[in-house]
Amino acid sequence: MKTVVITGSARGLGYEMARVFLKNNVNVVISDVNEENLSKALDTLRTIDCQAKVESCICNVTKTDEIENLIKFSIEKFSKIDIWINNAGVNQPEKAIWELTEEEIDFIINVDLKGTINCSRLIMKEMEKQKSGAIYNVEGYGSNDATMLGLSIYGTAKRGITYFTEALAKENEVKQTGIIVGKLSPGIMITDFLVNAVGDKEKIVLSEKTKKVYNILGDYPDVIANHMVNGILDNTKNNAKIEWLTNRKAAWRFMTASFNKRDFFKSLDAPKE
Ligand SMILES: NC(=O)c1ccc[n+]([C@@H]2O[C@H](COP(=O)([O-])OP(=O)(O)OC[C@H]3O[C@@H](n4cnc5c(N)ncnc54)[C@H](O)[C@@H]3O)[C@@H](O)[C@H]2O)c1
Repeated sequence: MKTVVITGSARGLGYEMARVFLKNNVNVVISDVNEENLSKALDTLRTIDCQAKVESCICNVTKTDEIENLIKFSIEKFSKIDIWINNAGVNQPEKAIWELTEEEIDFIINVDLKGTINCSRLIMKEMEKQKSGAIYNVEGYGSNDATMLGLSIYGTAKRGITYFTEALAKENEVKQTGIIVGKLSPGIMITDFLVNAVGDKEKIVLSEKTKKVYNILGDYPDVIANHMVNGILDNTKNNAKIEWLTNRKAAWRFMTASFNKRDFFKSLDAPKE
């Protein structure tokens, strides 16, 4: 039985991917900086009827000792880590670059970019010993060079994730490690992320225009998690990109928007449980 470790998996996409992996009989280690949500997530995931097992381990991806502990914990529980997903991420406040504080910028870059780099560096050492494994990094707004007011530092981090992932894939190819590296591109997900910035410290008030776009292009994370996990389990190639919201799908959504009246924000300004 394979084992997957997912960072930032107490809720949102990470949690939903954990659920789908378990249903596919893959052992899961969920981890998060939020201890309360992590404990609730573990309790719910343990109610799934499957042969695979789920464990949880607190881990802030900006702390090297906590990442090392997550790796050690996962190996002690399941003897090997086959798949590692760098999913933890935070949004930024809707402000121009010069309106952000240095602390806010450090926080976003440290979680969204450096967290993934450091986790990859540490899990690579372990997977190199195993001579096998797969690492997936989650892209986001900015990965494709798009820019907009209020997403510039997040976008800088996600553009960096894309380059970093491709560079890591290349290095694995050159060094013939047997490890594969790939990107997950989830599009727009209706999660708490959309209305929370800098790790839930600040609320984001979505404009009606933004909600309209999210209603057309967005999806709940359970739908996207299915696509991502199936893609990961099928993939054997290095430098793969598993994408949900392709250009074609986005164009179709806009074309059919007037027949497809979805409203994710009707009852509350936040996602479903
Ligand atoms: N929601 C979207 O529209 C969207 C779109 C594209 C990409 N993404 C990316 O997808 C990933 C998951 O997003 P989501 O929408 O599920 O977000 P979410 O906010 O619902 O979940 C993110 C999880 O990461 C955890 N986290 C935050 N900082 C952490 C840290 N330092 N260490 C460990 N865990 C930490 C949070 O506690 C939370 O449980 C993120 O990388 C995000 O950038 C989101």
